[in-house]
Amino acid sequence: MKVHILGSGAGGGFPQWNCYCHNCDGFRKGKLHAKARTQSSIAISDKVGTNWILINASPDIRAQLLNAQALQPARKVRDSAIDGVILVDSQIDHTTGLLMLREGNKLPLYCTQSVYEDLTTGFPIINILASYCGTEFHEIKMGASNAFNIPSLPHIRFIAIALEGKAPPYSPHRQSPTVGDNIALFIHCEHSNKSLFYAPGLAKIDEVIFPWMQQADCLLLDGTFWQEDEMKVNDIADKPAASMGHLLQSGANGMINHLNKLPDKRKILIHINNTNPILDEDSAQRKELSQAGIEVAEDGMVISL
Ligand code: MLT
Ligand code: MN
Ligand code: ZN
Repeated sequence: MKVHILGSGAGGGFPQWNCYCHNCDGFRKGKLHAKARTQSSIAISDKVGTNWILINASPDIRAQLLNAQALQPARKVRDSAIDGVILVDSQIDHTTGLLMLREGNKLPLYCTQSVYEDLTTGFPIINILASYCGTEFHEIKMGASNAFNIPSLPHIRFIAIALEGKAPPYSPHRQSPTVGDNIALFIHCEHSNKSLFYAPGLAKIDEVIFPWMQQADCLLLDGTFWQEDEMKVNDIADKPAASMGHLLQSGANGMINHLNKLPDKRKILIHINNTNPILDEDSAQRKELSQAGIEVAEDGMVISL
């Protein structure tokens, strides 16, 4: 299977349009050794790479597709390589790109009941799309017993794993978390017998999540924040990182320490927030990641599994 990283940034991307934090300002002034990043989305294909499924649809999808030749099939005057979209939550950065796909054919949409509810109530983009291309809803249910395939990628199997974490502010379940608000995906390719564990929003690694990570050959994980007071030290907000449903990289119970227990895998962070010091390729934090064998995803990166 091929995994194309369309967008490796968190909500807002990097640099964020209205942000003058150390990273965003430094990048614009050419003072930072860093790469720009669009908002969180990946695409998955089989080994041939002609049919793709999007996992999350970013508001930056137009620019992302312009930069992804493999997803531009050009077989007829109007054409798309996207055979469907899987959503891991109903956040703005993961769903708004659906609106940008309105010129296409009816869109197969794979998401949980809870995400479907959000996108037909608090953020009703599915209702809006009904006046354009329309969507074909396929409900995602949790666990290996509900593994599913996408018809054009029959050799790739998807398993959804429920994650703790909040639904977005506009969700009817914001104050009453529901199973399916946030999921991780375990994606297995029968051709290669290799698998990917994808969780761009991961609040906690516990005894349910860790065994899935152990089984995967490649981990593509939440790289949002380095430290708890990252928004505060950048004078942006007094919002602790943990309250936003993202596991920190640093600290005794942080991502790096968890990943140190999994030495024989490819480990890549994705959904990097613009405040995160790991965006600076010369930073001590980025060096610490490299020493731990952890990569940082970039837009346009392709992973073959
Ligand atoms: C998140 O995952 O926390 C989001 O990136 C927040 C947002 O898009 O506003
Ligand atoms: Mn996000
Ligand atoms: Zn910034």
